[in-house]
Amino acid sequence: MEINILSGALGAEVSGFNLNTITQDNFEKLNTLLLEHKVIFFRDQNISSEELMSLGSLFGPVEEHAYVKGLDDFPQITRIVKAANEKNQWGEGWHSDVSYDVTPCKTIILRSIKIPPVGGDTVFSNMELAWETLDQDIKDIVENKNALHTSNGSKFFVEDYSQMESNGNIGEKYSNEHPIVRIHPETGNKILYVNPTYTKKIIGLPKKESDALLEKIFKHQEKLDLSCRFKWTENAVAILDNRCTQHYAIADFYPGRGLGHERIMDRIAIVGDQPF
Ligand SMILES: [Fe+2]
Repeated sequence: MEINILSGALGAEVSGFNLNTITQDNFEKLNTLLLEHKVIFFRDQNISSEELMSLGSLFGPVEEHAYVKGLDDFPQITRIVKAANEKNQWGEGWHSDVSYDVTPCKTIILRSIKIPPVGGDTVFSNMELAWETLDQDIKDIVENKNALHTSNGSKFFVEDYSQMESNGNIGEKYSNEHPIVRIHPETGNKILYVNPTYTKKIIGLPKKESDALLEKIFKHQEKLDLSCRFKWTENAVAILDNRCTQHYAIADFYPGRGLGHERIMDRIAIVGDQPF
């Protein structure tokens, strides 16, 4: 097994590791890699949907997406499709997945099926480092506060994406509050747990003050110094710790360059704990 560290902040590409052969017995090795690097990548993994589900199950129960229809045979697998001439891409903007849930998913596994020759990389960011490097003045204000996370509703996940289909849940947006600093349940590390896509308000602060503070925090979280970038190839797999990272699917599909190619990814998510 060879490990290629992707940046000073997080991320590692692992080679000589066949994800088909992971069982409960050698799962610890995989999980240790994930806890250390926060997002790990594997290329040339020819895994079927069934194998993707088995891999996910080693981390815990696999959940269905709240708003988007899954595959007919595997409802927990969300197929993320960008049509060839579509400029938008699902997952644009910094976020951690489903932070609006009571128990946001702990792990996400992505499998690339069709990848444009250029464009559509994904950037990941380390939210433990984001906490460590945050201004002490801001830390003092937010350390024991909660924030409100809101789902943005079903339209957010399907309306701007021609290939994404609703699962029939067209209900209203919903919200949950989580600590701004959460503790990683497996490592005990502190995590800055707000994100620009779903976090709307700091509880207990006037709106104006909350908006100003969140803007500062988001700006800090977006620093490239906290990130790594992965250029996809087909049949690659990314496993990411959704508790302590954010990600951003880059939509750099411009005419004469990245535009004109279909992009297809499969995603599964594993049920997480309630942040504390
Ligand atoms: Fe995402």
